[in-house]
Amino acid sequence: MRLARVGAVASAALLTVALAACGSSEKTADKQTSSTDNKGALVGVTMPTRVSERWIKDGDSVKSQLEALGYKVDLQYAENDIPTQTQQLDNQITKGAKLLIIASIDGKALTTQLENAKAAHIPVIAYDRLLLNSPNVDYYATFDNGKVGEQQATSLLTGLKLLKADGSKGTAKGPFNVELFAGSSDDNNATFFYNGAMKVLKPYMDAGTIVVKSKQTDFKTISILRWDPATAQKRMEDLLTSTYKGGAKVDGVLSPYDGLSIGILSALKSSGYGTAAQPYPIVTGQDAELASVKSIKKGEQYSTIYKDTRQLAKTAVSMADAVLKGQQPQVNNTTDYNNGNKVVPSMLLPFVVVDKSNYQKELVDTGYYTAAQIDK
Ligand code: GAL
Repeated sequence: MRLARVGAVASAALLTVALAACGSSEKTADKQTSSTDNKGALVGVTMPTRVSERWIKDGDSVKSQLEALGYKVDLQYAENDIPTQTQQLDNQITKGAKLLIIASIDGKALTTQLENAKAAHIPVIAYDRLLLNSPNVDYYATFDNGKVGEQQATSLLTGLKLLKADGSKGTAKGPFNVELFAGSSDDNNATFFYNGAMKVLKPYMDAGTIVVKSKQTDFKTISILRWDPATAQKRMEDLLTSTYKGGAKVDGVLSPYDGLSIGILSALKSSGYGTAAQPYPIVTGQDAELASVKSIKKGEQYSTIYKDTRQLAKTAVSMADAVLKGQQPQVNNTTDYNNGNKVVPSMLLPFVVVDKSNYQKELVDTGYYTAAQIDK
């Protein structure tokens, strides 16, 4: 028993040595850190905004999980203002943070701060959104963003009954009028969602089964800066009063984020949708935000993508803990996330497509929300 244990410890030590010896890009801890140095160290956590409730959950989870490991945490929100975020990072570096976890507003806007962090031997973990155009990003914790886009589009097709729930051909023939929305162009994820969705939708568009009546299909035109719900609402209103003024109906809307979906549904409502005679189109989403889960329950929004922020926080925190102890964090993707300067070793988490049929099982039974929160 004892021997076996010693053996296990010895092989763990060997593994650590072997890992430490491999791959220069993996040497990110850079001997900057050692387990004793960083006990109880300060970790700087920056989140983009409190406007969207998911980032509040993310921030709370990261903070409490780091504190449970004995770290001190400086958690900041920048309310989608880039200069505020850069200043928060400057402050955290000055205050002696030993590691930074960053969910950026604009992935390209923080290169100077990342350079300063590097100069001060502070490792950086990109949280959900990749930090771009910088060699000074050590790890990335996120979900499988390309797959998210594919599943948003697949869910749209299922809602339109072009596909069955099992992925086989559905009963509907179309053609269906669909409008497309994309996320913020300064967020790397938005491109992943868009490309993933287009991969699935393109054959249907080419076949004429799905018709983007506005003809607005390119990323730049359909993207919504800062993921702003009001901008999405305005764009949907404009589409309704231009493209659809002759009486044609919208059958589906590809929306990459719940905040946008709420804005889109609100524009549709003002224009007469949401009645028995004229039901809402199939509208997708992402993040399982409470307002959208309620909307799904009521049969308004069709679906969302549930990304468990507690799990994302756990991943980022265990990456941080490993780096601060001079160890190698676990990653599962070393190919897909090129930030323009390097491929950032990433941990991609799975997610679940949620609609009316499974929100109870996925969101209530798992404790993400209480039934009372959704029923209120
Ligand atoms: C993205 C994120 C989405 C959504 C969106 C708006 O970066 O991947 O899940 O939260 O931002 O906040």
